[in-house]
Amino acid sequence: AEKKTYNIAVIPGDGIGKEITPEAQAVLEKATEGVAEFNYTDFDLGAERYLSDGTILPDEDLELIKKQDAILLGAVGDPRVKAGILERGLLLKLRFALDQYINLRPSKLYKGVTSPLANPGDIDFVVVREGTEGLYCGAGGAVRRNTPNEVATEVSINTWFGAERVARYAFQLAMKRKKHVTLVHKKNVLTNAGDMWQRVVDKVAQEFPEVEHDYLHVDAATIFIVTDPSRFDVILTDNLFGDILTDEAGAVVGGVGYSASGNINASNEYPSMFEPIHGSAPDIAGKGIANPTAAILSTAMLLRHLGFDEQAERIDAAVQADILEKGSTQRTTHEVGQDILARL
Ligand code: NAI
Ligand code: MG
Repeated sequence: AEKKTYNIAVIPGDGIGKEITPEAQAVLEKATEGVAEFNYTDFDLGAERYLSDGTILPDEDLELIKKQDAILLGAVGDPRVKAGILERGLLLKLRFALDQYINLRPSKLYKGVTSPLANPGDIDFVVVREGTEGLYCGAGGAVRRNTPNEVATEVSINTWFGAERVARYAFQLAMKRKKHVTLVHKKNVLTNAGDMWQRVVDKVAQEFPEVEHDYLHVDAATIFIVTDPSRFDVILTDNLFGDILTDEAGAVVGGVGYSASGNINASNEYPSMFEPIHGSAPDIAGKGIANPTAAILSTAMLLRHLGFDEQAERIDAAVQADILEKGSTQRTTHEVGQDILARL
């Protein structure tokens, strides 16, 4: 049979991003052996590049990235670069330019991982966070900067179109899971956006009669994520609430080292991007001790997105077995990578 070829952009980025990405790439390569041909193009983007020549994301790189089938990203951010420059100029720019309107963040408590919760129960939910609107799209501005009369605004942009496409994705995902969607917002206070989100969800829900849906205010959701996390299946929410809830969710499943994410363009007009949810960890960068598990799990998400469900399952199973057997032992980044590779 003819093997299909896929082009993958690899952006290791900064700090531990450079250490975990090769381990993830090795797993991706191994899992797809004999099934498909993966060609990798490395992009030198991030703090080093910015500090050496001032570029963040050149147009020619963006155009090249647009032509790839998917993107594997490590992490960006460096204490030598002012906060926001790389996060907005590289990470958010990619999410917006590639219209990655679904930010998908699964939270699963793997057997063998210690949760900070005394009675965590069976945690296995997915946050479907809107990725291109809300408070993150840069609407707003500042006047009279650095004067006592300074004014600063950030405007939350919510469109029916934007909420509807992410809601439909959440319901489709729920159909493959436990058939339960929880909309999280703050509609008692943010009445304009919250009311629209609720009406969007009620309308989309009619297309999915088998899926139950309910609603929680975001403040209540933060409580339930620690008191009763097993109640959740699919959480649907906006950009800012999703950012905050997924960090909390990452913590209850034992830390950011186990949490992967996908920035998905579900219409496949542009490539989707897969990355661990953690950052560049400057405190441990260069020591070779970062946990590559989240980066490896993000390759499983990448494969699932490209339709390689079986290969994705194999990576998930290898990671689960590795955590169960060796999760509590001290290992280097490369040792964890090799151990998971050996199981494949
Ligand atoms: P961080 O996630 O980089 O680190 C938080 C803590 O978790 C640190 O103690 C770190 O050592 C630990 N940690 C993170 N990943 C780990 C791993 N794989 N294995 C073992 N320990 C791990 O968050 P922080 O410190 O707030 O941010 C550092 C930089 O990363 C900043 O410049 C920030 O803007 C950026 N950042 C980038 C993200 C991205 O590229 N998507 C996401 C979050 C932060
Ligand atoms: Mg975050």
